Amino acid sequence: MALQIYFSILFIATLALCTSANYNSVNFSYIGPNGPEKWGTLSPSFAACSNGKAQSPVDLVMTDIVMNQELKSLDRNYLPTNATLVNNQFNIGVHFEGKVGDININGMNYSLRQLHWHAPAEHRAHGRLHEAELHLVHLTEDNNNIAVIAALYNLGDPDPLISKIEDKFYELANENRVGNKDAKIALGTFDVEEINKRIHRYYRYIGSLTTPPCKEGVIWNIIGKVRTLSKEQLKLLKAPLGPEFQHNARPLQPLNGRKFEMYNYHK
Ligand SMILES: *[C@@H]1O[C@H](CO)[C@@H](O)[C@H](O)[C@H]1NC(C)=O
Ligand SMILES: *[C@@H]1O[C@H](CO)[C@@H](O)[C@H](O)[C@H]1NC(C)=O
Ligand SMILES: *[C@@H]1O[C@H](CO)[C@@H](O)[C@H](O)[C@H]1NC(C)=O
Repeated sequence: MALQIYFSILFIATLALCTSANYNSVNFSYIGPNGPEKWGTLSPSFAACSNGKAQSPVDLVMTDIVMNQELKSLDRNYLPTNATLVNNQFNIGVHFEGKVGDININGMNYSLRQLHWHAPAEHRAHGRLHEAELHLVHLTEDNNNIAVIAALYNLGDPDPLISKIEDKFYELANENRVGNKDAKIALGTFDVEEINKRIHRYYRYIGSLTTPPCKEGVIWNIIGKVRTLSKEQLKLLKAPLGPEFQHNARPLQPLNGRKFEMYNYHK
């Protein structure tokens, strides 16, 4: 009897280990044999990374921008919510526990679930490479539809959003140093009011996730106004990441005839 219990516990422990190992393993990379051109071959579920026709990121080319008066403003009213700073191994992000807020696109509500950074930026603006990019990832309630608000960064004044949690970034980097590669640091109630500001101009196109599984049908909304971050902050975005993720920007993908719809705020 005791032995049986022992084996059941062992079994459950092993199962838990396997599940967490699967959960923790990231087998794609930005350099080397598992680099971006190989992503589509790493798993059948990653196939879109190589055979997708509407992939991201892309170059926001001026000649492919069309004005769309029908586009609505991206009104947001994000509320302070319990959040966690997470080392996703391929980037650093913030996960929200509760409801932060919604954006409404074509009558559907998309709720902010997480944000994360890439450095350098993934999307380009008329060929220009920026220092970093912020992705605010919104999902519909059934998790099936994704809308991302993206902001590009130049070097300059510190980004107040990152400043608020700078000490937590240092903690995360320390965790990585002691081998805790997928560390999580509690942020408590995180007020993202800083990213509530009215968006005067954005560019919308339909693309994909920029990391495997490269799922398509993602509604991208790239904010026209470029944010700034300091050199130190740029270092913080990379400090907890391994060498294969130091440059975590996927190469540009072909537009294949897609257009960017521009929203311009008018009173
Ligand atoms: C890579 O990871 C994916 C997703 O976890 C998995 O389905 C796939 O089998 C892995 N591929 C290799 C070559 O290990
Ligand atoms: C916030 O989230 C953390 C991590 O999930 C949890 O331990 C903590 O209890 C939460 N705090 C509140 C006030 O909900
Ligand atoms: C979207 O959210 C708003 C505000 O919470 C709500 O009034 C509306 O009914 C929701 N719309 C849909 C389609 O669920």
